[in-house]
Amino acid sequence: MVLDLMTSDWPDSAATATDREVGRLMYASQSNFTGPVFQEMQRIREHALQRNVADEVHVALLHQSGWFVEWMEGPPAGVHALMGRVARDTRHRGLRLLHSSRGPRRLTQPWSMAIVQALELPADFARRVVTLREEHQQGRAPGPATVWRRLSTPLTHPGAAEQAVSDRFQRVMVCAARGEASFDMVRWLGRTHKAEVVHRRFAGSRADGLDVATDYVDLDSGAVVRRVIAMARNGLHLGLTQAFLPDYSHVILLLSGDSTRDGDLMQRLVVACARLVHRPVVVGLGQPFCDHAALQKMAHRGGLVYLDCDLAGHIDAQAWWDAAEPLLDLSLAANSDWLPLSVSAG
Ligand SMILES: Cc1cc2nc3c(=O)[nH]c(=O)nc-3n(C[C@H](O)[C@H](O)[C@H](O)COP(=O)(O)O)c2cc1C
Repeated sequence: MVLDLMTSDWPDSAATATDREVGRLMYASQSNFTGPVFQEMQRIREHALQRNVADEVHVALLHQSGWFVEWMEGPPAGVHALMGRVARDTRHRGLRLLHSSRGPRRLTQPWSMAIVQALELPADFARRVVTLREEHQQGRAPGPATVWRRLSTPLTHPGAAEQAVSDRFQRVMVCAARGEASFDMVRWLGRTHKAEVVHRRFAGSRADGLDVATDYVDLDSGAVVRRVIAMARNGLHLGLTQAFLPDYSHVILLLSGDSTRDGDLMQRLVVACARLVHRPVVVGLGQPFCDHAALQKMAHRGGLVYLDCDLAGHIDAQAWWDAAEPLLDLSLAANSDWLPLSVSAG
């Protein structure tokens, strides 16, 4: 197989602050797995980690609707060598190259993997592969993060075709300091808007690290299509989560009022955003006794804008969302060009 690692002209909003350029390559293939997918992917991870670390290659592997998508970044020689090995593997078939370029490294860790459980048939996924393959062959392939998102977004979702248009598609992450409130909110949004909730499992490099759940729902609110993503607290350190953080306009923190827990969550977010040029606005929601001043201080030290909002009484999914939604104004997002990162909002 001849691989072309030429520079692509297509802009990819990327980016981490310090990385040098790497070779970036993506392919899609059909899975030959017959057993439980997660265990099979863990087996690939065990071997891959040794080889990828030695070659400085970072990888994200997706399994969805009977398809694999693998996104590789690293020194071109290492990426070529990996592609050569993978092409001979009988656990999948029909590899199609979808992206090949040089650019900034987005994947911060040697291995990430995701299993997406969408209500779609392999043939639906195949249609998106064909489209992206044609775009690649015509030299119009979008950046790796956009290829990943376009492949993994079911066709029936609002805005499926507009993933690359940043002012028409807004991504918002929700993370709870305690319990499952972020997942309850996404489920409630799905029920209220009669929209599919997509369930995903992400895992990282550590063999002993548990996989984490992350669900999302796409909502068409007229002016924008909004993806609301519930993320488990321990998902913030994963390479795949961090690869997409530059594209989030806001991260909503559902605070517990316990200052240790809330501080721990903020600290995780600050660490996850540390290498990013474009950082999301942080929205802290909680009871009036939450220590917003301390959280704001941590956020500012980490270069993050912090907005706070108090909620009184019993807080359910609707109450969280009603408080958050007015604060999701895109014009305030830190990745708007005009807003310097040092600006604070109280
Ligand atoms: C979908 C898929 C993705 C894979 N990703 C990697 C990877 O990132 N790194 C790796 O070393 N092997 C990966 N493998 C395994 C390789 O195909 C191959 O089996 C492995 O590198 C062993 O090669 P070797 O026998 O030459 O050492 C993957 C396999 C599949 C089916």
